[in-house]
Amino acid sequence: MNPTLAIEPSVFYFGTPVALLSTLMPGDETANITPISSAWALDDTYVLGLSNSGRAMRNLRENGELVINLPDAALWESIERIADTTGVAEVPRHKREKYRYEPDKWTLGRFTPRPSGVVLPPRIAECPVQMEARVTNMTPLGEDGDATIVHAKVLRTHVHQALTVPGTSHIDLNAWNPVYYTFRHYFSQGERVGVSFRAEQ
Ligand SMILES: Cc1cc2nc3c(=O)[nH]c(=O)nc-3n(C[C@H](O)[C@H](O)[C@H](O)COP(=O)(O)O)c2cc1C
Repeated sequence: MNPTLAIEPSVFYFGTPVALLSTLMPGDETANITPISSAWALDDTYVLGLSNSGRAMRNLRENGELVINLPDAALWESIERIADTTGVAEVPRHKREKYRYEPDKWTLGRFTPRPSGVVLPPRIAECPVQMEARVTNMTPLGEDGDATIVHAKVLRTHVHQALTVPGTSHIDLNAWNPVYYTFRHYFSQGERVGVSFRAEQ
């Protein structure tokens, strides 16, 4: 039997893929980019965990459209270039020591906007997966109300052509290399160790 220890981790970031949300800034044509890792999908709905003090949450309350862009491991430095910034002009007090305001994360992260088909916020051209989505539900997280659980229905999915299995809607698993956020370090995907009985390819 493996002996265990009761520990008190400061965060529970055991490793989830990074997503870059593009959301529309209110009152103008520009869009913000928000790196997150609290994102997972059930059927065609993404569940996102967002801090209420960030620009993404404020934008989504005004306009419930977004693009959930999935970067690959090669983009980790671009993610990190925008990591210490916020699109909130008056940086919230608890973030002031480590974060600064940045109105144009596209240029800073060397990301290129590409128009979406069914939502207003643009896609991030460099991300191999870009899902246009619309918010369907918002629920406060916990009792102190610092964060919100957002449900977003995926309306259209774009992927880099090199990621597809020709003639199908399948992703080429040898071409897709997501980037994981594990205790504030970026990891790429390791070797395949098995296959589920439900795999389609
Ligand atoms: C890899 C990574 C993962 C993150 N995950 C989340 C997350 O899941 N939810 C969240 O609210 N913030 C997350 N953050 C922090 C936000 O990106 C950060 O608060 C940022 O300032 C928000 O930008 P915005 O205010 O322009 O939306 C993450 C940051 C990084 C770099």
